Amino acid sequence: MNSLKTLESDSLTEERLLPYSIEISDSERKMIKEAAEHLQKKYGSFENREFVTHVHQLASYFLPERILSVAAAFASDFSKDQYGAVIFKGMMDIDQDKIGGTPPNWQSADYSKFNLFGFVCALLHGALPSKPVQYFSQRKGGGLIHAIIPDEKMRETQTGSGSATDLYVHTEDAFLKNQADFLSFMYIRNEEQVPSTLYSVRSHESLEEFRTLFNPIFKIPKDANLQNEEDEEDALDSVLYGNQELPFMRFDAAEQLFNPNIKQTDLAHHALNKFWEEAKHLVYSDFIPQAGDVILVNNHLCAHGRSAFRAGIRNIDGVEYHCERRIMLRMMSKVSLIDMRGHTLTEDPFFVIEEHLGKNFKDL
Ligand SMILES: [Fe+2]
Repeated sequence: MNSLKTLESDSLTEERLLPYSIEISDSERKMIKEAAEHLQKKYGSFENREFVTHVHQLASYFLPERILSVAAAFASDFSKDQYGAVIFKGMMDIDQDKIGGTPPNWQSADYSKFNLFGFVCALLHGALPSKPVQYFSQRKGGGLIHAIIPDEKMRETQTGSGSATDLYVHTEDAFLKNQADFLSFMYIRNEEQVPSTLYSVRSHESLEEFRTLFNPIFKIPKDANLQNEEDEEDALDSVLYGNQELPFMRFDAAEQLFNPNIKQTDLAHHALNKFWEEAKHLVYSDFIPQAGDVILVNNHLCAHGRSAFRAGIRNIDGVEYHCERRIMLRMMSKVSLIDMRGHTLTEDPFFVIEEHLGKNFKDL
């Protein structure tokens, strides 16, 4: 599957790589909903280990043919034409009344309302195939799905709970060696009409000028959800990795470049700065997700973020209206439980306990 390429409107010669986008048909949506309802009846919760263990087989059995084939192609395409994100428009119908008012923050969310959506997200990851996992570094685990809700007390932060400032594009958990391979974002509501931002390492015409980023000379600080402690000094890694021609990326502009507590060496800072000067013009922010849309991201190819917004305010033709605050559900997955076994709980290989670049949390 090739990512969608379109011609720039102002230039007939320049092509721009964009995320692949598909519209889910009515019959596909019906099939997905019935599958989720059936599985919910059988397994109760999408966290049920029996369900998660069989998620690949269940995805093959229950998901529409076209979604299976898009997912399979996406998971193993690292080519120059692969953006690293697929947008599924209208994956589910979401009954806004049943969801009720948006809770003040993620801590007070009622997850039973998201159970059916959890099944759908897990099946998508299962189709790749990739296994839903949880990270202690994110909300101390907190389950396989995280509700991302703007929290007034956190509005200025560079976290999922922030809102007042742009959330810089970042690959998720750039500070982990075993960061998620794939992410899904399911939009439950986005009444404020906040654009989601995406940035693909494939959007650069050439990476020749950025060879320095392959060297393990960069500090990759833990993100704003975690406190930075003593070990920042010696933990270094590269920003680009994998194939030399068509690399993967671990990149977090806010933390690697703009975190005032982190001093990169001059060489590292210069290389990162030069990269960001080009990258920031390649950020894609034309997509405004609607309730029921899902974005699936390859976390090694594509970074994500969002524009600043005023939570609970919708602007229509210059007039401001109150609305329900945004809710998004995030799921993370790993292709191999074996490769990261040194960084998962002894009794639970789906629970990642890496704290920072190969070092685990202690005393869990
Ligand atoms: Fe994120």
